[in-house]
Amino acid sequence: MSHFLDISQLSSEQAHQIIDRAFWFKNQTHYPNYASNSVANLFYENSTRTRVSFELAATHLHMPVVNLDLQHSSENKGEAIFDTVENLAAMGITHFVVRHVQERLPHKLAQQCRGSKIHIINAGDGIHAHPSQAMLDMMTVIEKKSDPRALKVAIVGDIAHSRVANSLQVLCRLMGVAELRLIAPSIWQPHTVHYGRVTDSIQEGLESADVVICLRVQRERIKASESYDLQTYRNLYAVNQRHLAYAQSDAIVLHPGPVNRGVELEDDIANGPQSVILDQVRNGVFMRMAILEWVLRNAGQPQQ
Ligand code: CP
Repeated sequence: MSHFLDISQLSSEQAHQIIDRAFWFKNQTHYPNYASNSVANLFYENSTRTRVSFELAATHLHMPVVNLDLQHSSENKGEAIFDTVENLAAMGITHFVVRHVQERLPHKLAQQCRGSKIHIINAGDGIHAHPSQAMLDMMTVIEKKSDPRALKVAIVGDIAHSRVANSLQVLCRLMGVAELRLIAPSIWQPHTVHYGRVTDSIQEGLESADVVICLRVQRERIKASESYDLQTYRNLYAVNQRHLAYAQSDAIVLHPGPVNRGVELEDDIANGPQSVILDQVRNGVFMRMAILEWVLRNAGQPQQ
């Protein structure tokens, strides 16, 4: 496997290796040189954190990066993404970081490109998966709380539309997280549960939790039939001081971003001492370095 598409492709040992490598990068000032490789960021959906952190990660590893202006890309002229990838590969691009509204599109690209020496990295496909986000979240949890097998983790919010929640469930299972609670109003509860227990009660879900992961309300993905009043949501599910008091007093609060302040998370929590949101963003660069390198090493290329 020379692509990074889904957490489910990883063994527990591989997940630990990637996280350990990300911590190693975090403690270095000089990085390996992978200048014979290059990265194309193909973001067909908006991104700030993921796109910039992959760009910084590649730059740290001395890999040239191109960010395609996809507002003006050839997809708008009818060119299939596969053809775009093939043409960029002909120019020497080796790593394709792909975000697209279509579920499993990175997987299809990886299938179509079988035999060529390129690596597809999933940067978020529809509501299906966002594996690099889950990995940087787990890195942050381990950094702050140590052994995930001893932890009670709660994910709260719009789980039904969250690719982050899907990848996190699979990763929590893989890492042996002691307990996972999935908290959402019934209309936003997941159709498929990969790991954990679902509840619509924030009190029950946050009870003595060590880690509280808030999710963005994915307004752009919510159909009219799935709508839920945001003021009611804020009253019942926003992580605020009152709700956080159900968790352990030293619980940490994560959010993948972008944060809708005053909807899923109150300002004083987002900016407070229990918030590790900016640690997540910081760790994202090192995690993406580890992933860019991992696909190379996994493809049997020589280490630097
Ligand atoms: N968490 C996340 O994917 O953020 P961006 O949409 O800014 O990349």
